[in-house]
Amino acid sequence: MTVNRIEYKNYRNIETLTLEPSDGVNVIYGENAQGKTNLMEGIWLFSGLKSFRGAKDAELVRFGCGFGRLKMDFSAGGRDQKAEITVDARRKAKLNGVELPSCAGLMGKCSAVVFSPTFLNIVKNGPEERRRFLDAAICQVKPAYAPLLASYHRLVKQRNSLLRDVQFESSLLDMLDVIDERLADAGEALIRERSSYIERLIPAAKAIHDGFSGGKEEMTLAYLRKNGNSGKPLRELIKENRRNDILGRTTSVGPHRDDIDIKINGISARSFGSQGQQRSCAVALKLGEAAVMKQITGEQPAVLLDDVMSELDSGRQDYILNHIKGWQVFITCCEPSTVLRMCGGKTFHIHSGELTKAEEN
Ligand SMILES: Nc1ncnc2c1ncn2[C@@H]1O[C@H](COP(=O)(O)OP(=O)(O)OP(=O)(O)O)[C@@H](O)[C@H]1O
Ligand SMILES: [Mg+2]
Repeated sequence: MTVNRIEYKNYRNIETLTLEPSDGVNVIYGENAQGKTNLMEGIWLFSGLKSFRGAKDAELVRFGCGFGRLKMDFSAGGRDQKAEITVDARRKAKLNGVELPSCAGLMGKCSAVVFSPTFLNIVKNGPEERRRFLDAAICQVKPAYAPLLASYHRLVKQRNSLLRDVQFESSLLDMLDVIDERLADAGEALIRERSSYIERLIPAAKAIHDGFSGGKEEMTLAYLRKNGNSGKPLRELIKENRRNDILGRTTSVGPHRDDIDIKINGISARSFGSQGQQRSCAVALKLGEAAVMKQITGEQPAVLLDDVMSELDSGRQDYILNHIKGWQVFITCCEPSTVLRMCGGKTFHIHSGELTKAEEN
């Protein structure tokens, strides 16, 4: 997707604003609290997903206004299209003049990926963050994945409650056999999907990371199966762990416990990475996600990088500004000096929710 024009009305701190971005790099700069992230969030909403800030719909409407509206002209699927989102208590959307049942109907029509500072948790925090990233990324490119994931989680829940009851009532063991079978099938299917996604993500993210670090650092990614890296089928692992699971009353193996191992030069990015290294990994994963989306869907997503520059040295910043070729990228930053280092694209200055400058470089 390429955003050609976007109009904001009564959205967050913006009364009215029109952005006409370039199809290359766009830098939105300004002081704190002027509306940079708000602009990014507005573009992101066209992906059909919820705000990356976790905001409730009503919070998107400008204080004191009844409703807010976003209109976007974009190119996707080889043609020019229009979409519109109206927000009051909840969001509603139109695509090419046709009202959609819900905003989720925009999914797959307007594709975008977003990096915001909370995404750093993917490197810093525990495995749950990484599983969430992987699951969300796959859901965006493979609609059949969401129901598969949901049914797997349902089975884990059922099994856990069965594990609690089985010690009081051994007749439930037969039922546990049945659930274990289903869990193994659903779990294996999830692992297959995740592994095939990771196989695409690894070279894509690695190529970006190489560019980032000027080839000085090597990032490696691997899908880590809980107890399963010996290659044992999940069915066997579930069987092996059943006794322990009954004692611990929880399901200890399976994709709900898996992880992605992220290393830089052979050591854990989570435990030993510097701030800039961790940020570089997170950004490489996000841009890798965008590259994989293009491979699978044929559509290049718009890339939104909110507050990506801080903690990065000038070489890494330069890579983001000038070396991501052929993608439409939106970058926010506070430092006006950053825009002087750009070789193309457009820059926008925002103050108090208004564009005070829009320049082609
Ligand atoms: N619904 C709303 N109505 C009016 N103003 C709002 C609304 N929601 C948020 N704001 C205001 O928007 C302002 C700008 O927010 P935004 O997060 O876009 O800033 P920013 O330019 O990204 O700043 P930073 O550099 O600190 O990240 C905030 O001061 C906030 O109070
Ligand atoms: Mg911001």
